[in-house]
Amino acid sequence: MHHKKPPFIAGNWKMHMTIPEARALVSAVVKASPGLAEAEIVLIPPFTALAEAARLLLDSPVQLGAQNLFYEDKGAYTGEIAGPMLADAGCRYVLVGHSERRQYFSETDASINKKVLAAFRAGLKPIVCIGETFEEREDGRTISRIESQLRHGLVGVTAEAFADIVLAYEPVWAIGTGKTATAAQAEEVQARIRDNLAENYGKEAAACAIILYGGSVKPANSYSLLREKNIDGFLVGGASLEADSFIQITKEAIKAYKEKQ
Ligand code: PGA
Repeated sequence: MHHKKPPFIAGNWKMHMTIPEARALVSAVVKASPGLAEAEIVLIPPFTALAEAARLLLDSPVQLGAQNLFYEDKGAYTGEIAGPMLADAGCRYVLVGHSERRQYFSETDASINKKVLAAFRAGLKPIVCIGETFEEREDGRTISRIESQLRHGLVGVTAEAFADIVLAYEPVWAIGTGKTATAAQAEEVQARIRDNLAENYGKEAAACAIILYGGSVKPANSYSLLREKNIDGFLVGGASLEADSFIQITKEAIKAYKEKQ
């Protein structure tokens, strides 16, 4: 059984990649993976490329994730995809509550909570995304927003579940904008997230939780971000669409992780 470990690098391809394009990208990452064995790598293609990616990843340590799931396990929900279907397609991970889903598809902490529980029922490890908007940061509401997302999004999640859960702190203003949070800005929030987990789930859960940073991660900032104590890895969007930059981000992360041990 594969266990999650830092540095944990996930590539969220969003609504990109045809099946032939996915084949090329997955193959390039698989080819580089022997040199990246110290990292846990998860590729998150669109649904239509999952089967092909799963086939290419069969004997690989690189893991597969999906970008979303519905919170019911089956039924008359046209257009939705259930957790058991994703597990069946070869996924181990699933993104839940990405800010684009919150913004454009009306996802709320309540529906995100149901999705987290649905992921667990299906044996999937949820990568739960949280983060403040620009306005919230300007108003000094970053921490209260994050704490509210954790409180309402993780209802019913036990301390033991933190062995499987991954959190991704993604300041909304940094996603796809080229405006990366500084290492200090990201660390400040991520330290508060870990403190919050310690208060609510205990020290052990907080210590084993993987907390990713996401938002304009690229090869040039991977090292300095990952040197921070509470940044265990990345959720990479744009820079995960090219094998070279995704691989370089992973290499820099491995180097930074070793140095901070
Ligand atoms: P970005 O996206 O790296 O393109 O900013 C990150 C994400 O949305 O997960």
